[in-house]
Order: sequence, then structure tokens, then C-alpha cells
Amino acid sequence: DLPTSFDHPVRIAVIGGTGLQKLEGYVPIATVNPLTPWGYPSAPIHILEHNKVPVAFLSRHGAYHQIAPHEVPSKANIAALRSIGVRTVIAFSAVGSLQEEIRPRDFVVPDQIIDRTKGIRPFTFFEKGVVGHVGFADPFDAKISKVVSACGHALAGDGVRMHDKGTIICMEGPQFSTRAESNIYRSWGGSVINMSALPEAKLAREAEMVYQMICMATDYDCWHDTADVDVAMVMAHMEANGANAKRLVGSVLDELIKEEHSDLVSGKHWEGQTTGMIQFM
Ligand code: ADE
Repeated sequence: DLPTSFDHPVRIAVIGGTGLQKLEGYVPIATVNPLTPWGYPSAPIHILEHNKVPVAFLSRHGAYHQIAPHEVPSKANIAALRSIGVRTVIAFSAVGSLQEEIRPRDFVVPDQIIDRTKGIRPFTFFEKGVVGHVGFADPFDAKISKVVSACGHALAGDGVRMHDKGTIICMEGPQFSTRAESNIYRSWGGSVINMSALPEAKLAREAEMVYQMICMATDYDCWHDTADVDVAMVMAHMEANGANAKRLVGSVLDELIKEEHSDLVSGKHWEGQTTGMIQFM
């Protein structure tokens, strides 16, 4: 049995989405389950070692995919990761495609989000007397996104197709969109659609963590004249391309843990401009 505590700060975390419930090929060194003021995270956090660097892995939908997108305890997830030292989060998500050129099984490194959640998920740490407003003009991180894109392009020979930017529509769900909604999102310039980018990305920003999502298209959303999206379609593409997803996450981790990126993943750039949130975590 693995230790249930780990004494060193873990700087990098991967949040796995649908189809990425585990990270294989790494040495497990501990499993931690921090109790935060907002409860426990979706699943115990696996601490894995890679080239002597610890990396945290958290399955967003639970260890058995039992947590629906609107039920994900995002505040606990982000607070738990922050509490073990995480400064950089690579978050994986299955998405529907809103554009012809983003084909099922393609990867997208998004640079923007449009919020179509309904404001019913707990979405901020700043409330009940703790007042704060963080900038969110660029919800993701330009430097990390370049690293992810480069890793994706380097895997082109393995059949990985990478799109270097894109706008995520994050909808409430759990039902998929109507055709009219899907077409509106296209007219807004949406590239892909999911149910998981928010509030995760906002909470990570409030908690002073760098956050970059990696999307994998599992379907054309219902605007397209192929078969309408259903869960079986999402899972089938996810399974068929799961090896590529793991390969991509692995090569991103390989790159980020290199010494040359230590400033990028350490959270140093936050020094002197903290949101003040960390004192609560
Ligand atoms: N996740 C995967 N495919 C999706 C879709 N078409 N709409 C919303 N979320 C999704």
C-alpha cells in the first residue's frame, strides 16, 4: 500500500477528464486525499514520480467516472491541489467540435472560453466577506500552451492532429445542446464545446495557479449533419484515441519537468501580485 502523505511540494498536476481516469507508466509514490474547507476532491490525488519529479494526478469525474460535470467539486479539487503545492495545472477534457476542420480525435489547445454554465455551480472562492476580483481576459497560459502545442505537433507521426488555439464554449449540461444552440455557438466563433472548463479555470486563477486545458474532440456537436452526439460516440472516440491522449499528456509532462521550465511551473511569476486567496487553503 502506498503512503497517504507526501512531504515535498508537488508543482505540476494533471486533471484527467472523461477517458483519462488514470495516468499509466509513472511510478506511484503516494495517494493523498486532503480535506479542504470545501470538502474532499473528486478522487484521492495520485502522486506519481517521473524523472525524479513528483506530479499529481486527479480524476475530475471521480475514480469510477461517477461524478457528473455539474457535480464536480471544483473548489475542493483546486484547493486540494493548491494545498499540496501545485502551481501549474494541465487539465484534460473531451469536447464536441463546432468547426468542420476540428475532426473527432483531433486535439485543441484552447486560448479562450465563453461561459454558458448557468451560475449554479459554486464558482468562486471570493465570497462571504472575502472580496476579490481576478483578471480573466486570457483564461489560459500562453507559455504553457506553446509547450503543449509543440508536444502535439511532435507527435504528428503518431496520428496526433493538434490545433494551436480555439474558443471553448463551456455549457452547463448534463444534456447536450439543441441544434439551435449549437448553431448559435458556431456563429459566436466557438471552436469546441464541453461541460468542464468552468468553474475549474476561474478557480485555478483565483488560487494563483497557471491553468491550461487540452481538449480532445470526441464528436461533431449536433450542428453537423453526421449522427447527433451521444455518450456512446464520445466514449468510442475517447477509447480509440486514448493512447494518443496519454502519449500527449506524457510528452507535455516530460517537457514541463525539464529544468529550463522550472520558473514556468513554480509559480514564481505570481510573486508580488497574489490574490490573497492562498491564506485560506
Ligand atoms: N463533451 C464531449 N462532447 C460534447 C458535446 N458535443 N457537447 C458538450 N460537451 C461535450
